[in-house]
Amino acid sequence: MEEQYLFFRKNLLAWAAQSQRPMPWKGERDPYKIWLSEIILQQTRVEQGMPYYERFVAHYPTVQALAEAPEDQLFKLWEGLGYYSRARNLHATAKYIAFECGGKFPETWESIRALKGVGDYTAAAIASFAYDLPYAVLDGNVYRVLARFFGIETPTDTPAAKKAFTQLAQAVLDPTQPGVFNQAMMDFGATHCTPQQPQCATCPLQTQCGAFRLDKVASIPLRAKKAAKKERFFLYAVFDFQGQTLVRKRGSKDIWKGLYEFPMLELSTAPEDQQAIRDAILKHFFPSGAPKTVEIRHISTVYRQTLTHQLVSAWFSTLYLSPATDLSVFDTASLQDTQWVARQAVEESLAVPRVVAWYLAEKSPALTLF
Ligand code: ADE
Ligand code: SF4
Repeated sequence: MEEQYLFFRKNLLAWAAQSQRPMPWKGERDPYKIWLSEIILQQTRVEQGMPYYERFVAHYPTVQALAEAPEDQLFKLWEGLGYYSRARNLHATAKYIAFECGGKFPETWESIRALKGVGDYTAAAIASFAYDLPYAVLDGNVYRVLARFFGIETPTDTPAAKKAFTQLAQAVLDPTQPGVFNQAMMDFGATHCTPQQPQCATCPLQTQCGAFRLDKVASIPLRAKKAAKKERFFLYAVFDFQGQTLVRKRGSKDIWKGLYEFPMLELSTAPEDQQAIRDAILKHFFPSGAPKTVEIRHISTVYRQTLTHQLVSAWFSTLYLSPATDLSVFDTASLQDTQWVARQAVEESLAVPRVVAWYLAEKSPALTLF
């Protein structure tokens, strides 16, 4: 047994023993509740998932109860977690266990892994937490912690790396307490050896940490392919009617859920020039021709906002409406779900995406003729 493995194992477990991260499923031995918590925590942060877990356990204390739940009720309880396929799989699996396995939760890694909605990570988590089976969890957190501690300077996002990290995670796992060890790994990656600003100064692994010794904590783990950011092109229509403007609240299907913005047209490619923006805006918002009382008075320069997976470019066109404008021309499909509000309200009291806030902070576009 390599000495470095033992050092890692011992010090990680010591760290976990004194670190406080109370979670309602910690120490839980009921495989049903463990499975439930792990499905909820897929694609969901611990803080967000906790109240959902509590509510599910309260409503459905057994797999039988969950299996018998009306789908609508289950979906209502799931509301806010997103990825509804997870909720559907949860229900299907509960029915499978309750009605086809006699209510007995599967007890081997293979049979757990075969459940709908359960991948390698979730199977390892359940197998180790519920049955002390020696399967190491492997996800982004574990890749990062292992790559840093062992000073691994090869990319982690390749099939070869997956194989090597699976073996490494398995080698450092404490086979006498795999559940405790896996939970320690998860917590250490989530709270101590974090992607940004890991707490090396107070780290019990620091004296043997490869990345720390090499001064490469910031650059490890390496990636072969940088995830390409999706580029998006938004043309905003900033209406100006006697100090009022139109806004719309963004829905849940996309970025900026719940924030307010001006009516918008999304293009699939960048607009060529200002004339192209002007034409696209008029055609989109006034498909049967713009009334004479509407005038595009200003088109902003481009504003760019970088999100985790997207790069948004936005242009803002000010559409001045003379007081004589008949507002019924705005009763069109492209302006559905919009409302008139005071321009001042947009600037001062509505939550808007940053790219909109930058525009509002910089311009009084109604005054900038061109
Ligand atoms: N993420 C997935 N499973 C988890 C667990 N058991 N504890 C903390 N974070 C997790
Ligand atoms: Fe992570 Fe820093 Fe600890 Fe190394 S010393 S394991 S990089 S927190």
